[in-house]
Amino acid sequence: MNKLSVIILAAGKGKRMASETPKVLHPLAGIPILARVIRTAEALEPRKIFVVSGNGGDQVREQLKSFAVNWVTQEEQLGTAHAVLQALPYCDPDDRVLILYGDVPLISLATLQNLLEQTPELGLGLIVAEPKDPTGLGRIIRDHQGNIIKIVEHKDANNDELLIREINTGIMTAGAAQLMAWLPKIKKANRQQEFYLTDVVALSVAEGKNVTGVLAKEPEEVQGINDRFELATLERYFQRTAAKRWCLAGVTIADPNRFDVRGDDIMIGKDVYIDVNVVMTGKIRIANKTSIGANVVLKNVEIGEGVVIHPNTIIEDAIIEQDCQVGPFARIRPGTVLKSGAKVGNFVELKKTVLGKNSKAPHLTYLGDALIGESVNVGAGTITCNYDGANKWQTTIEDGAFIGSNTSLVAPVTIQKGATIGAGSTITADAPADQLTLTRAPQKSIEGWRRPTKKKIQHD
Ligand code: UD1
Ligand code: CA
Repeated sequence: MNKLSVIILAAGKGKRMASETPKVLHPLAGIPILARVIRTAEALEPRKIFVVSGNGGDQVREQLKSFAVNWVTQEEQLGTAHAVLQALPYCDPDDRVLILYGDVPLISLATLQNLLEQTPELGLGLIVAEPKDPTGLGRIIRDHQGNIIKIVEHKDANNDELLIREINTGIMTAGAAQLMAWLPKIKKANRQQEFYLTDVVALSVAEGKNVTGVLAKEPEEVQGINDRFELATLERYFQRTAAKRWCLAGVTIADPNRFDVRGDDIMIGKDVYIDVNVVMTGKIRIANKTSIGANVVLKNVEIGEGVVIHPNTIIEDAIIEQDCQVGPFARIRPGTVLKSGAKVGNFVELKKTVLGKNSKAPHLTYLGDALIGESVNVGAGTITCNYDGANKWQTTIEDGAFIGSNTSLVAPVTIQKGATIGAGSTITADAPADQLTLTRAPQKSIEGWRRPTKKKIQHD
C-alpha cells in the first residue's frame, strides 16, 4: 500500500449525454466508465479511493457498490476545487493525493505512474496533452523558461491564450496538506462563477514552488466523455487497440473496425479466425485453431480447439468442446455442453442440454433439458417436449440412438442405447434398446377417391 489517496471527481451532470442514466454509468466496452477509472486507481494500491458523486449519486453507488471505495457527496456542483474539498478532509495529511476524473475512462496506469514518479514527492504535478483541437479545455501557460505558471480556462482565455495547444487534462497530484492549505484560498472570480481547481497552479507558483507537467502517452487516454458521440468514438479506439493486440498475438481478425469485446475476461488462442461483426461479452475462452463466423454473438462461452462456429450463431453460457461444428443460425442457450466432435446445424436451439461426443442435430430441432449420449443422430424437426405447462422434465437419449425426423419426445422419457425412432413419432414412453419404436398411424390409400371439382354456377 502506498501513501496515496485517490480522489475521483464524478459529480457533474453530464447533461450532454441526454440520458436518464448518470454519465459515469454508461459503459465503455461493457464496463461503466467510472468503474474503469476505479479499477485503474486500485492498481496503484492507494490507501484510500474517494469518489465524489452528486447528480444521480444513489444510482451510481448502487451500481458500483462492489467496489471498496469511499463515497463522498457533493450536494451542489460549485466547481472542481469545491469537489476535491468534499473528500480532502478524510485524506491522511501526509498522503499524496491523485485527482482523477470519473469521465476520463482510459487513463493508463503507466501514465499515472509517470506522473507520480516525475513529480517531486508532495509537489504539484499535472498531466498535460496536446490535442489537435483544444477547444473548451484549460490552457497551460508557461513563462519564457518554459515553466508552468498558470492554467486559464477556455472561457476565460484571451485571444493569445486561445492559440495555445497545450492543455490541462485535469488529472493532477499534490500533497494532501498542501491542497488543504490552497483550496480554501480559491475564489470564483471567473466567467463560470465556479471554484476552479486549476487555480492551485498559480498559488503554487506564487509560493515559489515548481509545477511538473507530464505528457500523456496517447491523446485518447486523457479524453473525457461529454456526449454519446465521444463515447462511441472512444469505444472504437478501445476496440481497435484490443484488436491490434490480439492480431499481434496470433489471431486473424477480418476487420479490426468490426471487433467487439465487452468486458475484460477474454482469452483467445493462436491461429484463431474471427470474421466480421462478432460480439463477445463476459468470460470468453477460445482455444487454438478455432474459426468464428460473421455475426456471431458469444456470451460467457468456452470454445475448444478446432471448433468451427458458422455465421449468425448465438451462444450463451455454454461449453463447446474441441472439433465441434455449430451453425449457421444456431442458438445455444445457457447450460449447454457440446462434447467433442458434436455437430449442431441450422435453426437448431439447445437449452440445458449435453450433446455427446460425435452426436449430431443437423437441422430444425429443439433440444431442452436433454442428456444425449455419444454418436446419436437427431433428425430434422425433432422436439423435446420438456415443459408440461408447470414443470420442466428431462429427456435422455443413450449412445448410438437414431431419432427419425419430426419426432416429439414427451419428457420425462428415455431412448435407450441403439434405439431407432421412426420418423413422425410422438414418444411418450421409454423406447427399448436396439429396437425400432414408432407411433405412426399405418399408411392407407383410398381407391376411386376423386378430388373435388369447382361447382359450375348457373346463370339464368
Ligand atoms: C476541467 C478543467 C480544465 C480541463 C478539463 C479537462 C477546471 C476548472 N477545469 O474543465 O482545465 O482542461 O477539465 O477535461 O478544473 N466535477 C465535480 N464537481 C463539480 C464540477 C466538476 O465532480 O462541481 C467533475 C465532473 O463530473 C468531471 C470533472 O469534475 O468529471 C471535470 O468537470 P468539468 O465540468 O467537465 O470541467 P471542465 O469545465 O471540462
Ligand atoms: Ca469536461
